Amino acid sequence: FMLKEIFDQPQTIHDCLRGRLDADTGQITLSGIQQYLSEIINAPRIIIIACGTSWHAGLVAEYIIEELCRIPVEVEYASEFRYRNPIIHKGDVIIAISQSGETADTIVAIEKAKEQGAIILGIVNVVGSTISRISHAGAYTHAGPEIGVASTKAFTGQLAVLMLMALKIAHAKNTIDEEKYLLLCKELSKVPDKAAEILLQENKVKAIAKKYAAAKDFLYLGRGYNFPIALEGALKLKEISYIHAEGYPAAEMKHGPIALVDDHLPIVFIATNDTFHAKIVSNMQEIKARKGKIISVITDGDELAAELSDDCVSMPWIDEIIAPILNVIPLQLLAYYIGIENGHDVDKPRNLAKSVTVE
Ligand code: M6R
Repeated sequence: FMLKEIFDQPQTIHDCLRGRLDADTGQITLSGIQQYLSEIINAPRIIIIACGTSWHAGLVAEYIIEELCRIPVEVEYASEFRYRNPIIHKGDVIIAISQSGETADTIVAIEKAKEQGAIILGIVNVVGSTISRISHAGAYTHAGPEIGVASTKAFTGQLAVLMLMALKIAHAKNTIDEEKYLLLCKELSKVPDKAAEILLQENKVKAIAKKYAAAKDFLYLGRGYNFPIALEGALKLKEISYIHAEGYPAAEMKHGPIALVDDHLPIVFIATNDTFHAKIVSNMQEIKARKGKIISVITDGDELAAELSDDCVSMPWIDEIIAPILNVIPLQLLAYYIGIENGHDVDKPRNLAKSVTVE
């Protein structure tokens, strides 16, 4: 199921955008949130609550919403939020993200925020689930049933919805200029085709997986929009291969994790062309100088990053704001093939349940 679901993504992202995004006119229709649009535009703050992979989608959204909509965003683990005494101001909007719509911690966190008068927007995959019912409004991800315990197509569906939402809010709020807005709408509409292009590199990723499958630890590093993708890549690997993996913002490396680097440690860099590219290339040089093994996700034609890498996967160019939705795909494949290489049941990893309906 997991491999099928990874390969479903060009279609599921297409389904998520269908009827919502008209890239030619820049029309974005999200009927589920329309009635709360003015509250969202005027929100003093957005708080995102979620768990696991859905929390990583929330982190990507934090970068994008703050950049495009200029609304402060906080991203909270639902399990922490529910037991704190969170401060919710009048007008704050909560976005709850959940594939299953049944995660116990997220449900209780929503109820707590609701009691304090917040508006709850749910981004959910399972139609009719508890979170979809208790939210004031929201949008479905339309990824279809996700059977593999490790979330893949639901994650890219969450990112697609969050990107649509951020663009819609920014446009309505006038925090984005028209040219940039239309460009990003066009870029988002190209994601299904580009996802299909990336999946053609399956055999290359499989060969990389074979080469590194015996490693005991992995580090995943990214900056900016791709920092949460580093976290998600590490989580995917942990879940299905049982290999210890950590994700970090690349610049944090020198504050501790660099001590781990030796010629046995594979380090996965998400290093596609963006505002931080020169910085991440310099982080790659620091690793190279310490003989770490570099696996990288780079943009087509980036010879400098390719030369620094022991192995790399090349991605088609796309605007940096949209890139995370594509950059996660080779990391899903890498985790999948390392799990398979080590003989694990990737669909049903030990100790994990598809939806965590208890504390
Ligand atoms: O159904 P939810 O999105 O609320 O689930 C949250 C997490 O339990 C979930 O994302 C979990 O981390 C997955 N196994 C990740 O692959």
